[in-house]
Amino acid sequence: MSGNKAIPGGGTPEGTVQDDVHRYVTGIAYLRRYYQELNPASIAYTALQCGYQAPRLDRPFRYLDLGCGHGYSPTLFASLFPQGQFMGVDFNPVHITSAENLRRAAGITNASFSAASFQDLATEEDGPIADCDFIVMHGIMSWVSETVRREIGAVIRRRLKPGGIVYASYNCQPGWAGKMPIRALMVDAYAVTTGTVEERVGKVRAFLRQMADTGALYFESNPAIEQQLQAIETLDASYIVHEYLNEYWRVFYHKEIATFMANHGAGFIGSGTAADNVPLLAVPEKPRALMAAMPNALLREGVRDMALNRQFRRDIYACDLAPLNINDLIAAHRATRYSLARRRADCPMVVPRSFGDVALHEGIFNPLLDRLAAGATTFDDLVGVPPLNDWAAADQIQALQVLVGAEYVRPVVDGAGVDADSDSVRRFNQVALAAARAEGQTEVALAAPSLSGALRVTLTDTANLPVDLPGADF
Ligand SMILES: C[S@@+](CC[C@H](N)C(=O)[O-])C[C@H]1O[C@@H](n2cnc3c(N)ncnc32)[C@H](O)[C@@H]1O
Repeated sequence: MSGNKAIPGGGTPEGTVQDDVHRYVTGIAYLRRYYQELNPASIAYTALQCGYQAPRLDRPFRYLDLGCGHGYSPTLFASLFPQGQFMGVDFNPVHITSAENLRRAAGITNASFSAASFQDLATEEDGPIADCDFIVMHGIMSWVSETVRREIGAVIRRRLKPGGIVYASYNCQPGWAGKMPIRALMVDAYAVTTGTVEERVGKVRAFLRQMADTGALYFESNPAIEQQLQAIETLDASYIVHEYLNEYWRVFYHKEIATFMANHGAGFIGSGTAADNVPLLAVPEKPRALMAAMPNALLREGVRDMALNRQFRRDIYACDLAPLNINDLIAAHRATRYSLARRRADCPMVVPRSFGDVALHEGIFNPLLDRLAAGATTFDDLVGVPPLNDWAAADQIQALQVLVGAEYVRPVVDGAGVDADSDSVRRFNQVALAAARAEGQTEVALAAPSLSGALRVTLTDTANLPVDLPGADF
């Protein structure tokens, strides 16, 4: 990275130390968060929902997190998947130091973090990062320049193995259509404020409210903006700066990112969020029927985004991967293990979705949940009770997908994961819990071996947790 240019007009938060094309806010660190969709077990399951076998997790695999921030998610995964090699790259040294501190304190040896830019990765001849099975990027594509996106494309082309999967999230249309003017106004307002980043964000918030209170017609014509204003008023300043005030900020149509990925060797296969791949939970009935009638994925996704007025997508893409044939697909689902991720009492028969509540059929799902609560984990055990025992495999698979989409149940493909008494999980949970307490957080995501993932715990409500969290001494 070269240069240390000030931003013309001083509009972007101070501490933005990159050159013209790489300019990205570094003056205020991003939030340290856990993202379930980045879990290789979640990626493998969503790939399976879409008909594809991801790289196996029960044997060595390599996982790269581009723009890993504080590296919380990859460090947690490293504790759970000893057979995986997890690598995080981010050009903000504050983020990498934080990631390294967590990794070291937890004694994790199968994760590494480098303070490097995507450009470094794209151009490095034989760096340590080669032949990745998974490349993930959360919160990156919409917030970097065209040039940086090209560098990301080069990383994918050079570093993703055939059969490998890319996960990418981004801001999308049409959900931003009415909201983009707010962001434009925020950038200009920020440019004329002074003080610390927090103070400047506070002044921008006050200005937006003042603007809305003038009775401006824009707010009147777009009543949904009030919700956005309220979010801007309550969200963390760090989030506001990274989400809204980056110099580069672009909202995409699904087709644009799908084309970008395809041009770099990774074809769109579906959503990285399990619920999106379950028709009952994905969209309301009428657009669902329209989606089903569409001749191709681009139109299906276009209908979906309109139906939900979607503003953020989390998608997965695969390199040179053919869909499984029906027998192998069913076999892979039948080999998947399932665990209850909530207390049984917290699995109601109504699932709230962005478009409204979805009612689940009690006669189908209560027996399944009861079986899970009684300790059943295999497909055959779970579907061995009426009415599912009489169903075709495809329908049984669909029923389990509903419970996964509702986030009541967590799937684990390939028998991946660690034993409940794993040292790495215990140490990770001890360190993560101590840090959350020291920082006065109310919630923390801890490693749960039986889920091959994390359980989000509210620190004031730790009685009767649904799974064991080794090392977490509440
Ligand atoms: C919005 S944050 C997301 C962090 C993390 N993925 C998460 O979701 O918590 C974007 C991250 O990308 C990093 N980043 C942006 N441009 C980059 C570049 N050209 N090379 C390396 N890292 C970059 C930033 O430093 C920042 O940590």
